[in-house]
Amino acid sequence: MNLAPIDLRSDTVTRPTEAMLESMREASLGDDSRDGDATVRELEAKAAQRLGKEAAAFMPSGTMTNLVALLAHAQRGGEVLLDSGAHILNSELGGIAALTGAFYKGLPANRGAMDLELLNDAIRGGTRQNFGTTLICMETSHNRAGGAVLPFSYMERVYRLAKERGVPVHTDGARIFNAAAALRTEARALAQHTDSIGFCVSKGLSAPVGSLLCGDATFIERARAFRRMVGGNMRQAGPLAAAGLVALDTMVDRLEQDHRTAQRLARGLQEIDRRLCDALEVETNIVKVEVPAQGRDAAAWSAALEKRGVRVSPCERHALRFVTHRHIGEAEIDATLDAFNSEWTRAIGGNAASRH
Ligand SMILES: Cc1ncc(COP(=O)(O)O)c(C=O)c1O
Repeated sequence: MNLAPIDLRSDTVTRPTEAMLESMREASLGDDSRDGDATVRELEAKAAQRLGKEAAAFMPSGTMTNLVALLAHAQRGGEVLLDSGAHILNSELGGIAALTGAFYKGLPANRGAMDLELLNDAIRGGTRQNFGTTLICMETSHNRAGGAVLPFSYMERVYRLAKERGVPVHTDGARIFNAAAALRTEARALAQHTDSIGFCVSKGLSAPVGSLLCGDATFIERARAFRRMVGGNMRQAGPLAAAGLVALDTMVDRLEQDHRTAQRLARGLQEIDRRLCDALEVETNIVKVEVPAQGRDAAAWSAALEKRGVRVSPCERHALRFVTHRHIGEAEIDATLDAFNSEWTRAIGGNAASRH
């Protein structure tokens, strides 16, 4: 097949819109690291306003917003509590330990939500023997939990508990607008239950690069210093910020479409075999698909699907991740289902044959 592959590996593959490219050409070119840049300032103000926080700082990646938040919140030697499937813990190369000097404790979680009793028990004050809990982190929507969204009331309870115990809270909201769309609310309603929050304009919102860390003004000032320390200060960042502004203005409301295509995909996969996924558990634009543990692993499944023109990511030994986005419509979903069905029939047929 010579057609362009259907790329469901991530929503980061989205290309900038024409309006973004246009705005990038016309953007201001101030040196953000020296005198500040007008477009970067405008994006930071808009991000802060949309998240209901006092201030925001523009950064090159979601990983950096998390790292800088950890550096700005966490006390050296203190303990960071987060769910054991958190992106911060599993996919950010241990920056939490290597660069912040904090310890971390991954807690068991259900669809990204830590067990609240365990969380309560895990929070501890400093003594001569330990430095105590220094930060609690949440993640919504949750990447490893297949795009699961933390319930509003859960975030509220975690934040209340943290405040009672005097511990700050950071939220990895790389896809916070997907979470808000799924809950039919505004991102700021979710962000009220966290002291700081990072989100990406580079994912489903289609901007080429960029993430924003939002919080109160004092915290963001401190974060700016850490951003500089880890090399995240940018110079003529206006064109990147310009694309981010268009992303916030034009791309948030359409995310629901990605959730609908994800539903179509999940239902179609379920029709192929009920064990593949549960459409009721698909809340946003990520579909986690369990492939059978016997036979090929997820990497082999991904390679086989690639040959049929569909690109997906192995996310666990026996699970694949399909992510819908702006370039995936119903036609791409139907073609994906056809390709998966053919491969499934071949693989299951092969297994059946090998039993004889
Ligand atoms: C939940 C979550 N947090 C953080 C990140 C990191 O973002 P970036 O790739 O921009 O560093 C990702 C990326 O996929 C993510 O899914």
